[in-house]
Amino acid sequence: MTKKALITGITGQDGAYLSEFLVKKGYKVYGALRRTSSTNTSRLSYIGVLGDIELVSMDLAEITNIQRLIERIEPDEIYNLAAQSFVQTSYEQPIFTSDIDGIGVTRILETVRNLGGKPKFYQASTSEMFGQAQQSPQNENTPFYPRSPYGIAKLYSHWMTVNYREAWNMFACSGILFNHESPLRGTEFVTRKISQGMAQIALKKIKKINLGNLNAERDWGFAGDYVEAIWNILQQDKPDDFVISTGENYSIEDFAREAFNVVGLDWKKFVKSNVSRYLRPSEVPSLLGDSSKAIKQLKWKPKVLFKDLCLMMVESDLKNFNLTLDEAKKIAKKL
Ligand code: NAP
Ligand code: GDD
Repeated sequence: MTKKALITGITGQDGAYLSEFLVKKGYKVYGALRRTSSTNTSRLSYIGVLGDIELVSMDLAEITNIQRLIERIEPDEIYNLAAQSFVQTSYEQPIFTSDIDGIGVTRILETVRNLGGKPKFYQASTSEMFGQAQQSPQNENTPFYPRSPYGIAKLYSHWMTVNYREAWNMFACSGILFNHESPLRGTEFVTRKISQGMAQIALKKIKKINLGNLNAERDWGFAGDYVEAIWNILQQDKPDDFVISTGENYSIEDFAREAFNVVGLDWKKFVKSNVSRYLRPSEVPSLLGDSSKAIKQLKWKPKVLFKDLCLMMVESDLKNFNLTLDEAKKIAKKL
């Protein structure tokens, strides 16, 4: 029988990659999006799955909406990817972020519980929960120390997911995913800001990229690899939580160097650092994941690592401006 999956946050980066993955596996995919003033299905079109999924309306703020939708669809699996996912914004909108990223998840969990706990549930937990990391690398047993309203809201929903599993015997799991990027990454996140900015510099549209703290370190993987792990987590015999990461970390400076290097430019000439509006009130200095459990139990491992990820993102952003890598390299020689 065809399996039915409900993906919340379908318009986001992971929503696009996960729907592509599930459609290929033969799932009937329902993609939940919230009402906005203009259609924002561009990632789904870009990846070529818009025609293969059914879009449904759902906002994590509204429990009646969630209940009606899940009752109607009767999904086998729910992937909750919806969130206010930008850490910087969570300092400006802590209450909204807590409601959507925290209570919003409880709204889904309660709905599933009231329906007898049938659909399997995946929660998009995050390495941001480790925050001021208490040990390095971080695994499933590392104590949490979130440093942002986003991280704190996500920690609440992480523990709620654990609690619904233990209290109500639900198949509720979390993937504790470290940063994962792609050509579909939002342009406010630092990797995409750099790859897109670099392409704009090559086209002489801008002269510099303004960034904040270049010393922070992240464990960056490729979103396309990580959605495979997400699906795998719900296919296990028992519900559980897994850290998903590459096991390598690099600084923001490293990313800028590598991205500019792809076209032969010296990043230092084109990046302004410590721009105050991009500095975090409480920074997460370094994240590094240990995915031994996922490697062993899920038989999962990342395929795309740092250098290839940079290349993929830079090439894609150049292409978005109709530039090939060779053309960009020629232009770069004159900059
Ligand atoms: P993203 O691109 O920012 O997508 C977030 C999605 O959530 C968008 O579809 C957004 O819809 C939707 N959304 C926001 N508020 C909503 C609401 N009130 N009701 C319903 N939908 C709402 O994020 P992503 O990178 O794909 O990440 C997916 C999930 O994984 C998020 O929960 C994120 O926190 C988590 N995560 C991400 C990473 C990472 O490195 N990417 C790492 C760990 C965990 P609009 O398009 O309408 O805004
Ligand atoms: N966004 C941004 N913009 N970040 C900058 C900038 C800038 O101009 N300059 C430096 N940074 C630094 C931030 O201070 C942070 O230390 C790091 O770059 C990464 O920032 P983001 O790309 O915004 O990602 P994030 O690590 O805060 O959050 C992402 O990863 C989390 C997993 O650890 C998001 O995808 C979260 O949703 C996700 O949970």
